[in-house]
Amino acid sequence: MTRLGVNIDHIATIRQARRAPEPDPVAAAILAELAGADGITIHLRGDRRHIQDSDARRLRETITTRLNMEMAPNEAMLQAALEIRPDTVTLVPESPNEITTQGGLDLLSTAAEVAAFIRHARPAGIDISLFIDPVEGQVHKAAELGAKIIELNTASYSEAVPKGLHLRGESFLQELERIVRAARAGVECGLAVYAGHGLTYRNVSPIAALPEIEELNIGHNIIARAALVGLDQAVREMVHLLQSPRS
Ligand code: PXP
Repeated sequence: MTRLGVNIDHIATIRQARRAPEPDPVAAAILAELAGADGITIHLRGDRRHIQDSDARRLRETITTRLNMEMAPNEAMLQAALEIRPDTVTLVPESPNEITTQGGLDLLSTAAEVAAFIRHARPAGIDISLFIDPVEGQVHKAAELGAKIIELNTASYSEAVPKGLHLRGESFLQELERIVRAARAGVECGLAVYAGHGLTYRNVSPIAALPEIEELNIGHNIIARAALVGLDQAVREMVHLLQSPRS
């Protein structure tokens, strides 16, 4: 069965919109674990737009599954990883004004930074996952650099079926095939193969059905759904308070 890593960044996005104490990503992580998540993922961005260093520290102390931290392969982030000691670091490309991660790492042009990160993080017991586009050349390079895990970028796959699988066409089949080929190449290289980005309740099934893929990291669509399925109870609780106020 495919494992689920729940990315809780956007719980912190809601909090940071008001610089308020709520909602707390640690509370969200505990609920996700109680609901069956196999791991918790956070992206510690250079601009700290959502997850803060203190969130990462508190999550490290609290969660009982695995902590996966996404980060850029640079010295400042290496120091953060060595302090917090997540179970896994997923290296991702990062640029300051992007709305979300744009594409996978180009391991040909970033080989030196990625290799240095792996060399320093491995002795600390941190497994390194490399977020790459589903391209066989990138998969082989990931294995050569000594990564244990690759996470295949499913953004193009997801964009091929923006409204759901009932509208699947030629580009969907091509994107799925790219992921299948890259996943097989990963397994042949001895890598653990994960995938994620842009996955939704509507498009996840064909990816979850691939036996080569061990784990999926899903964030935005789960948090988006939580906001809607939780709204009914949240409004009812406030209506109840207004109907029977206590001074
Ligand atoms: N995997 C990686 C490497 C990511 O950068 C992200 C986004 O933070 C995700 C998975 C989750 O993507 P989404 O929020 O679209 O589910």
